[in-house]
Amino acid sequence: MTAPKLISGFSKLDSGQKIQWLVETMNLDRSTADFFKSFELSDKELQAVIADLSENHLSNFHLPFSVAPNFLVDGQLMTFPLVTEESSVVAALAKAAGFWAKRGGFHTEIIGTEKKGQLHFCWKGAPEKLVGLFPQIKKQLLDEVAPLTKNMERRGGGMTAIELKYLPEVLPNYFQVDVSFETCDAMGANFINSCLEQFGRSLKNWAQNNEAFQAEEKQVEIIMAILSNYVPNSRVKVLVECSLEELETDPMQARQLAEKLVQAVQISQRDVSRAVTHNKGIFNGVDALAIATGNDFRAIESGAHAYAARNGSYSGLSEAGILDGKFWFSLEMPLAVGVLGGVTRLHPLAKVAMKILGHPSARQLMSYLAVAGLASNWSAVKALVTTGIQQGHMKMHLSNILCSFSLSDEQKQAARLYFQDREVSFSEVQKYLSEHA
Ligand code: MEV
Repeated sequence: MTAPKLISGFSKLDSGQKIQWLVETMNLDRSTADFFKSFELSDKELQAVIADLSENHLSNFHLPFSVAPNFLVDGQLMTFPLVTEESSVVAALAKAAGFWAKRGGFHTEIIGTEKKGQLHFCWKGAPEKLVGLFPQIKKQLLDEVAPLTKNMERRGGGMTAIELKYLPEVLPNYFQVDVSFETCDAMGANFINSCLEQFGRSLKNWAQNNEAFQAEEKQVEIIMAILSNYVPNSRVKVLVECSLEELETDPMQARQLAEKLVQAVQISQRDVSRAVTHNKGIFNGVDALAIATGNDFRAIESGAHAYAARNGSYSGLSEAGILDGKFWFSLEMPLAVGVLGGVTRLHPLAKVAMKILGHPSARQLMSYLAVAGLASNWSAVKALVTTGIQQGHMKMHLSNILCSFSLSDEQKQAARLYFQDREVSFSEVQKYLSEHA
């Protein structure tokens, strides 16, 4: 087998050279360079900010920046900035916002803001010896990490708990220093990782310099030091509720709708195939707001999916019920986000998004993200148990198809009217346009 032809030093090339390499190697059209260029910002300073976000940047990848107004959150009227490629998501969020604003809005509660990190290491001595020495070790770890924590402590954050765990069921001789953090308005990833890496160095030195230790005991093998995206104690709850009469004017239909909504939620709690799709509907909203505000949506997703499986099987994150003539619908999920530093303070549109949200604290942003999650979940589940999802989706799908033809506004309007009660597909639209041109 001939060895694949690798390119070395690619990252050192300038973007023109990278594009040239790509065009030649992938046999792309010569116009690709200009095409890439056409997606860049004319403002050189702003363009440099985007380019610096990633290695090997060639161009900008655009997604719609949208807003959904009418979110009444804890009595305050908000407009949510949203970035998503899925055409029905913003419409669904706006619809849910308007519906619940007339019924008291969204009520949120922060249940905790604790973040976690772990130092993973192996040590071959007697575990009870290390456990016994841990108060002494902890003191040294804290003394040596102090220069890194002092700013965070000044802001009211820092480390809130440090625990040594011996876990031979994971690996032989394996330990963790499990650390809890409060990072205030920062997501805190750099802070947490720096503290943990310092812990690693301090622990190694401490063992090395311990005169009472045998040669083998002096060796601490650090495996890694990293924050955990599992943040079950950084959690937010959001709730909407209304009387059955407010849900639907016809009392029979109201009860039927409420019961179907509850059934749909119950299915998501007991059936994994439904749970995953149900939660995907939640993340349609959460991710759109997370991306708009420059937050790490992969971190949010991985933490929340793990939380959804905390009882041993993966289940839907929202709950619903009927109590004393009232329908309620709620979502409780872990969220660790920041409003300081990172992309939130760098990306020009993330900065506008934060302005639209009124420069929220991290706690407020946690609430808004959960609200977006519950809102998109509500719209999806309501559509599913009433009209079905295709009606709304097809409207958006038709708009997308119409955009791929050069049509006047009148032609688009006529096509929308024609497809109001017809099956939408690319070939059907094409056929209609050829017949009505
Ligand atoms: C589509 O993006 C999301 C839904 O599938 C969510 C759900 O089924 O609840 C509609």
